[in-house]
Amino acid sequence: MIRKCLFPAAGYGTRFLPATKAMPKEVIPIVNKPLIQYGVEEALEAGMYDIAIITGRGKRALEDHFDVSYELEHQINGTDKEACLTDIRRLMDRCTFSYTRQKEMKGLGHAILTGETLIGREPFGVILADDLCDGYSNGVMAQMTRIYARYRCSVVSIEEVPQNQIEKYGVIAGSEIEDGLFMISNMVEKPGPEEAPSNLAIIGRYILTPDIFDILRETPPGRGGEIQITDALLTQAKRSMVLAYKFKGRRFDCGSVAGFVEATNYYYERMGNGG
Ligand code: G1P
Repeated sequence: MIRKCLFPAAGYGTRFLPATKAMPKEVIPIVNKPLIQYGVEEALEAGMYDIAIITGRGKRALEDHFDVSYELEHQINGTDKEACLTDIRRLMDRCTFSYTRQKEMKGLGHAILTGETLIGREPFGVILADDLCDGYSNGVMAQMTRIYARYRCSVVSIEEVPQNQIEKYGVIAGSEIEDGLFMISNMVEKPGPEEAPSNLAIIGRYILTPDIFDILRETPPGRGGEIQITDALLTQAKRSMVLAYKFKGRRFDCGSVAGFVEATNYYYERMGNGG
């Protein structure tokens, strides 16, 4: 039902310097697979096969990753190494990839608005690849599309975070209309501990209806002087309805070194290498 998924990937990845000096943070691998590939696999599992990536300067590696590498493929053709490329070849066969550049870093809301040219007027998913999610048998984006199918409005995914972490996130308040599903009444981007309306933090998965682009165009800069998707979604929640969904699964903040190490150990063990 939703075909397109947007990947904002223009940021500098400063939390991961010096690794990200010449390499996009989205190609940092967890075990042997780049973060963005996990994200694209999750999108495809949700039926989103038109992949739209917002890039910036120094992000060529992203485009190359989803393209044929003739020399390499020629070299390993017919060898046992070929199996290592099975997953990425499958993605390349099933998905289309489009790119546009965000020329100035003016926030996540601005990055998403930059994607309007690739998305058009239809609902779409957004995945922030450094929030790596294992939805166990059901990808988080696939879980969210089921909510969208029933309510036809924007949906954000949330999880409970400890009070001392809340200032790193967009935070929601709302009424629980079903188990784990909230109708949003308030949202604050990166609140101080006393401003936080709850302990329910937004994580990097969104389904957005296309009127969000019109709202983003009129959204003034917010926290950090940046155009915030959280602010635009609050406007949308007041005008119509936005839902927050407590996803089932586990999330790793791979934009931080601690989260990256945790994810690496987790996926290494899951591949059957642990112990
Ligand atoms: C962004 C959003 C924030 C959200 C977070 C999830 O922040 O602005 O609302 O909670 O992603 O990872 P960032 O981490 O890009 O600063």
